Order: sequence, then C-alpha cells, then structure tokens
Amino acid sequence: MPYRVENSWSPSPAPAGTLTVTLHNLSDQPLAGFRLSFTAITRVAPGAPAPENAVFVRRDANYHEFAPPAGLSVPPGGAWTFRATGLNRAPMHRLDCVKTAYVTLADGRHVDAGVGDLVLDSAAPEAPPARLPEGRLTEPFALLPWPARVELRPGEAPLALTPADGTAREDLLALAEAGALHRRLFGAAQAAVSLSPVPGGRAVEFARDPGLAPGAYRLAFAPTIRLESGDADGRRHGLVALVQLLHGATESGDVFRFPASGVIEDAPRHGWRACHLDVSRHFWPADDVRRFLDILAWYRMNVFHWHLTDDEAWRFEVRAFPELTAIGATRGADARLLPQLGDPAATRTAFYTQAELRDVVAHAARLGIEVVPEIETPGHATAMLAALPRLVDPDEPAESYHSVQGYPNNALNPAVEATYEVLGAILDEMVEIFPSRRIHIGGDEVADNSWLASPLARALMEREGLAGTFELQAWFLRRLKGMLTERDRVLVGWNEVAHGGGVPPEGTILMAWQSSEVGIALAREGYDVVMTPGQAYYLDMAQSPVWLEPGAGWAGSSTPAQTYAYEADEGFPEELRAKVRGVQACIWCEHFHDRQYFNDLVFPRLAAVAEAAWTPPKAKDWLRFAAQARRCPGL
Ligand code: ACM
Repeated sequence: MPYRVENSWSPSPAPAGTLTVTLHNLSDQPLAGFRLSFTAITRVAPGAPAPENAVFVRRDANYHEFAPPAGLSVPPGGAWTFRATGLNRAPMHRLDCVKTAYVTLADGRHVDAGVGDLVLDSAAPEAPPARLPEGRLTEPFALLPWPARVELRPGEAPLALTPADGTAREDLLALAEAGALHRRLFGAAQAAVSLSPVPGGRAVEFARDPGLAPGAYRLAFAPTIRLESGDADGRRHGLVALVQLLHGATESGDVFRFPASGVIEDAPRHGWRACHLDVSRHFWPADDVRRFLDILAWYRMNVFHWHLTDDEAWRFEVRAFPELTAIGATRGADARLLPQLGDPAATRTAFYTQAELRDVVAHAARLGIEVVPEIETPGHATAMLAALPRLVDPDEPAESYHSVQGYPNNALNPAVEATYEVLGAILDEMVEIFPSRRIHIGGDEVADNSWLASPLARALMEREGLAGTFELQAWFLRRLKGMLTERDRVLVGWNEVAHGGGVPPEGTILMAWQSSEVGIALAREGYDVVMTPGQAYYLDMAQSPVWLEPGAGWAGSSTPAQTYAYEADEGFPEELRAKVRGVQACIWCEHFHDRQYFNDLVFPRLAAVAEAAWTPPKAKDWLRFAAQARRCPGL
C-alpha cells in the first residue's frame, strides 16, 4: 500500500488524553491537496478543540476526515503528524482507535492505507496473560458441555457409530444429521457415522421415554449403545454427545477414550441457550452464519439471536422497501452511509436475500435452533432512516441529539405515522420468513433527549400526556407490541424496553445486558429475562484488561474463567428464579473484521457460556472445562 497510518495515545490531558496520527507517504510522488479519512471507535467528540497541525473536516459516528494544513506537501518517504484532543473517552486496548484509513487524492480518488495498532505513548505495555490454563480432565471423555451425570468406564473407540437393526427412519435421519454435522465441522476427521454396518462399528439403538424432560437424554453403553429420549431435541443432544465422545477418542486418542460401559444421564439446565451475532457492523455471509449455527449445535445451544439491523447497516431484503438494502446495506467513501469500523474506501453492499434467510432458518431448524431475528427500534436506526427519509420529522433540527455511539438523530420518531406502516409491512415479511414466535425489536440505548426537538413528537407528547423521551419510547413500544400480537408474535427486547413505564410484561422477554442487577429488577417488574450481562457474556470484550489484548473494553474485560464462573441466577430471590429463561452470549462486531479475529475472541468463551447454560452448577469445573475447551471448532 502506498500509504500507512500509525496512531498512538497518551493519557494527558485528562480525561481522555491525546491521539497522535501519522500518515507515512510510501509512494514515489509528493502528497499534497489531499484528505485523510479513518474509522476509529475512540472518537473526536463534538466540540473538541481544533487539532494541532491538521484541519478537522467532518465526522459521522466512527468516521473521521482531516485535511493537512494549507500548503502542506508530504514528500515520498516523508510523513505528516497531527494531534487531536477532546476524545469521547480514553482508549483501553490496542485496537481502540484507527482501524481503517484511506487517502483522498486531489483528483478525488480514494486510496486505502495500511494501519498499525494504537500504541500507548506513556509506558511499555505488559504482555497479555495466558487465557486458558492447561486444565485437567476429571475423566478421559470428550464432552462439552459436561453432562449432568456421567458414570463411564473407558474402552476402545469404534470405527463408527451405526444404527441397530430395525432402526426407524426418523432415528436413521437423526443419526445421519449428527454425522453430517460432525463432517461439516471437522472436514479432515474420520467419519463418525455409517448407516451401513462396518467392521469395528458400534450399533446405537433408539428408545423413547416420555418421562424424560424436554431436551433430556440417557445413554447406556453396552456392546450396543442405547439412546433414550423423550423428544427430538433429547435424541439430537444424545447423538451429538456420542459423536463428541467418538471424535475425541479418534482424533485425540492420547487424551480421550470411548466408553466401554456405563451411563450418561443428562438434561439442559436452561431452556434458552443462546448466542447473538451482530451482522450490521460487520457482515457475515450466509455460509459463515450456517457454520456458526453448526458450532452452536455442537455445544447444544438452541437459540440464534440474529442482530440484523443497526445504525451502520440494514442487512436483510425487504421486498416492500428495496431502498432498505440498496441504501441501508451500502457503505463507502462515496455512499450515503460512510465507511465505519473496519471498512475500506470502496463501496460495498452486503445483505441477505430472502432466499438466504429462509435457507439459514431451515439449516437452524435441522439443528434444533430457533432463529430469533432482531430489527432495532426505535434507536440504532440510522441506516433505516437514511433509506427512508420520509420517516423523519421534516421540522426536527439536524443533530438535535446523539446516540452513545455518536450517531445524530438515529431513532425512529414515534410521532411519524408512516413509521408504523413501514414497520407493519416489514413485520409482515418477517413472519413469512421466520417461524419463531419471537421477534426482537431492540429497544436499547435511545439517547436521553431523543425527539425533544421534534415538533411532531412534542405534539404527540402533549396529546398523550407523556413526560420525556422514555415515556414516549414506551408509548411507541406498546404500539409495536400490539402489532406483534396481531401477528401472533411475542416481543423480545433489550432491558431498556422497561424504561418510561415499559410494555405489559405478559408475553415479553427482556435481555438484561447492562448488569445482573438489572435482570433481577426486571424480574421483580414481572418480565421474563434472559441474562446476557456485558461484563461476562459480551464476547467482543477483551479477554484481559491489558492494553495489548484485542477487544473492546467499555463493559470491562472478561477472561474465559470469568465468563465460565458467571452464574445467571445468582442474586435472584427463590421466587423469581423461574423468571430466568436462560442465558445468552452476544457477539457485537464493531471490532470484528475477519474469521481469525472472530475465533480469537469467541473461543473458548462461547463454549463457557454453553456449559453454563447446560450443566448443573454443582457439575461445573473450570479446570475440566479448560482441558475440554482446547479443541473448539472455529469459523
Ligand atoms: C446493547 O449492548 N446495547 C444491547
């Protein structure tokens, strides 16, 4: 690349310090009359002092644009350095500032620049600590999550699992699906399943026990293996456990064995064992999503929360409004939506067609995973509003409020009637695609003073007697809940849905992300809750507090040990425990740019959440988990 950007940060002046940016000209031409654009999660805040040795041109959320002082020319091999203060907060980790950058030349062409890590000016940083101890196996069996009860004696691994004579078609199909899942996840491994008898194979017979709890299974190991379950989920869980046992014994035979005899009796601890994926900030193609679903199924997780829209992009095709993707899924230096974190200068459009959505939903269904789609309302709606500007109150001043991520006027206006017509048409298409009874409508992080400068919103507040942003938000969400009920759908939202009076708790599930205490308070108000506290279950957070650790830091850092140790229903009074529907990991993708980064941040913490979701607290064991989790399949 002909240009390269280095950036460093020093803590003075308080509170957020100084950012120093240097552009190196590696080309063989002098660089003059240009601008430098970069994306950075640590932002130059509104009202910041003028930068030193640069001219501030503009900023939109994480997009920044600077020009050199008039007349400056950077010679080939030379560099231009400038400094900015007035940052929105102090960075915490080496990836907390410039992520991508490009130079716009005097003739208007954009040329991408290479970017280094954010360097800490004040001190040499310490190395990140090891994430996983070596651990120790309690027993030589590969099982993750660990079952409720394991009483096994080790023996030889069979060549493959085969169906017992007379196995019914549905059981054959389930066995074949488990084998196919294994093959997709571990393409180089020996096949775990054969539907025809093989020398050295071991037969599995299937039995029903209607007395078993939903998702529960029992495995009895004798020369023939007997798998008992009460439902299709239990059968699948038992088969995945069997395939895990065999995969461990064949691929890591120095560590793991296959059971000769004994039993596993197992049932899930929580009904909602979920992972969320943000595809708005960084787009993950449908192939990646399908593979991710395979990984969730391998860890016996059963809900995929698909965060399909946000300020940065709208990621699914809506036939009624093609502009949602034509404009709202397109970012680039010359597009309506500017490059954001991780974007190059080139314009890129990325979204799922309805055929792809249906295909992912069908794949999930085969794995026993419910897909809960999310459209962000009323906040986090920049992309939607850019695509459908008729949803904006024309008399609301621009930049009358900013979200915590720095987006101006980014919330759907509850007083614009067309908002409900558009949302209704979108929901009509969603219910055709997503069979889940649950639709997540967001509800988080509406800025404190949203809509207060909108004459339409003011009139509505006056008419309805609503005091302030959050009573207006609750009014909007109650109307949206009514629209969901009309479509036989249940409202799922982030914990702020309860603000300003909230929505009726019956048939509402809220996700406690800000803290565990918030979850307890929601349960007291009558809501069912899913626990996903940022401090433990946000897998985009760094895995230690040290500067060199990749990841975000705004919610704290979370080592795999801390993620594993978190107990969702701790602190809940006994009478409220039934309100805890389960737990969820969240993968927010502001910092994510490729699969390597994904794998580094997500594993083994995803498996830690899966074990906390499944395994009874008394059977949790961090060192055993550490020894088991060294072999996570990645994206
Ligand atoms: C959230 O992290 N804003 C749900």
